[in-house]
Amino acid sequence: MNWGFIGFGRIARKFLESLQAVDGEMAYAFASRSNAESLQKEFPNVKVYDNYDALLSDEQVEIVYISTTHNFHKEHTIAALKAGKHVVCEKPMGINSREIEAMQHVAKETGKFLMEAMWMRFLPAYREALKRAKSGEIGKIKHITASFGFRSIDKLTRDGRLLNPDLAGGALFDVGVYPLTIAADLFGWQPESFDAHAQVGETGFDETMIMQLSYENNCTAQLSASIVFNSNKEACIYGEEGFIRMPLFWKCQEFEVIKGEEVEKVELPFISTGYAHEIIEARECINHGEKESNLFTLEESLASARLVEQILSTVLK
Ligand SMILES: NC(=O)c1ccc[n+]([C@@H]2O[C@H](COP(=O)([O-])OP(=O)(O)OC[C@H]3O[C@@H](n4cnc5c(N)ncnc54)[C@H](OP(=O)(O)O)[C@@H]3O)[C@@H](O)[C@H]2O)c1
Repeated sequence: MNWGFIGFGRIARKFLESLQAVDGEMAYAFASRSNAESLQKEFPNVKVYDNYDALLSDEQVEIVYISTTHNFHKEHTIAALKAGKHVVCEKPMGINSREIEAMQHVAKETGKFLMEAMWMRFLPAYREALKRAKSGEIGKIKHITASFGFRSIDKLTRDGRLLNPDLAGGALFDVGVYPLTIAADLFGWQPESFDAHAQVGETGFDETMIMQLSYENNCTAQLSASIVFNSNKEACIYGEEGFIRMPLFWKCQEFEVIKGEEVEKVELPFISTGYAHEIIEARECINHGEKESNLFTLEESLASARLVEQILSTVLK
């Protein structure tokens, strides 16, 4: 397929590397409002537009990858769907549930494929770890911990993406969606109750979010997200008879299954920069006439947005 990129920042470069590693998929056009001229010099074989409408009017573009900042995802996704393109949109797909509902509605109306780029879900090691956890080999699952904290100095200015009041900043949107998703993979999207504590910065965003959640069958999760410190960045799934440890769980390439003193190490590297798996999934779905992926459905995007919304409403007044 011919891919068009809406926005071309940090993640677009990594996504591009993965796209180039997938046979048959082609980076056909980029649209960047801030950087078109230098992109055209850097990528002479790619069409580069200085506005998004021009890319969406290009009939050769079949599928659009949206990696603008979160606050623009809804507008750009809807415009791309209405222009007749399939869409893969970066996480979080929207900044509240109403936005996701609007995107779902337009996807249905246009009959085009739409998927949130929750890349973790498509990774072989992540899927295998979850399969092993659910197989019963560590016993009944009771608890999960997952922590994603990182500090990116250049983004931590008032204008930087993570703290800018106009760009939907904050830790939960940026990295907290990964711990919430792995917990949902085990216990579902709707906890029976939760307790969230945030450190809110000067621009009004959650710089650190600590969450404790209770689910049915006496299961619990302890999750954290931060954009101001580096955490151990791992997830552990605890069963009654052992646990699974997943270092760098959102970009999982290896994990350990630990039972008593026995440690089994499993390695399943991803292709290229890891985004190849979501690209392959989108292609397979489109080739089979699917309008969404079974591996991360639009209902899940909506459930995720609802949970984020509920959590934020308790900590940001
Ligand atoms: N899946 C992953 O692993 C992953 C990793 C990082 C980020 N993400 C997601 O990808 C999205 C982009 O993240 P990023 O780190 O790539 O962001 P970024 O480099 O800061 O910005 C991406 C693009 O957004 C537009 N943009 C940035 N600041 C803007 C502003 N003040 N006003 C208008 N447009 C602005 C620009 O588009 P133009 O090029 O048109 O100027 C820019 O190239 C976010 O939603 C993030 O959650 C996903």
